[in-house]
Amino acid sequence: MLTERQVADLRRTLDGWRARGETIALVPTMGALHDGHLSLVAIARAQADRVVASLFVNPRQFGPKEDFASYPRNEAADAAAFEAAGIDLLWAPDAAAMYPTGFATTVIGEGPALGLEAQTRPGFFAGVATVVAKLLTQTGADVAVFGEKDWQQLQVIRRMSADLDLRTRILSGPTVREADGLAMSSRNAYLSPAERRRAAALYPTLLRVSDALSAGVAVSGVLTQARGDLAAHFDGLDYLELREAESLIPVERLTAPARLLAAVRLGTTRLIDNMAVLPTAHREGGAP
Ligand code: PAJ
Repeated sequence: MLTERQVADLRRTLDGWRARGETIALVPTMGALHDGHLSLVAIARAQADRVVASLFVNPRQFGPKEDFASYPRNEAADAAAFEAAGIDLLWAPDAAAMYPTGFATTVIGEGPALGLEAQTRPGFFAGVATVVAKLLTQTGADVAVFGEKDWQQLQVIRRMSADLDLRTRILSGPTVREADGLAMSSRNAYLSPAERRRAAALYPTLLRVSDALSAGVAVSGVLTQARGDLAAHFDGLDYLELREAESLIPVERLTAPARLLAAVRLGTTRLIDNMAVLPTAHREGGAP
């Protein structure tokens, strides 16, 4: 496994592979790897001859009161996990290589980039879209793989990539969960043992809501009830919403595949999760 830290070196290596006709897949990460990240590497390996993973804790996607300084960093452990997962190259620039002095451009999305996470984290998706646009153009990857765990982020990236005519195909991988259903996340490490036990309630609540909606129960009633349940169990509820799966426009009646998205707080930690919600006809493979 190679490690590169400068854009020019990265390009030289990747151009060499491309000159031999090899295709390239990219898996962007901020490190603190878990099986969710590594599942994306497995998808990437099946898609291309060469797999590049990026490791960059992107300062531009953290708010002033967020955990940039304390975000878990362990490059040696991450490099070993990536190598064991079979990547060919680790792209690990420092902040000066990613954002040289004078850097003055930001990619700001509308549509799916508005509301939900953006409500609580203004500037978050501008930071994500800017760094992902750079990662896609730095590597010129044929495909890039993102997790459905961060569903809104995935839709922001798909929209940005289409809108900017980027050539990289955007693929996604399903959410990898702990045995009790909690979606794996680097930030789960912040939970105390008691919080970690309480965290497990989010997934079954989403399952229950998704089943009720699929069965045809009215959207607003189901959401109101579940919002009350989540607000009572957790230390705070940022949102529980049903949205069109790609545009993230609010859904009032379930007639097409939709996405249920939630963010809750446990102490100082935020948990996000989401789930597909299919009208019964879609579930049974019937006519749409
Ligand atoms: P990070 O949180 O490190 O996540 C890297 C990738 O792993 C993202 O595509 C994320 O959706 C995916 N992922 C995280 N947890 C997952 C899980 N439990 N199952 C499946 N996939 C999971 O997301 C980011 O970094 C950054 O915003 C980034 C896109 C790298 C831009 O800085």
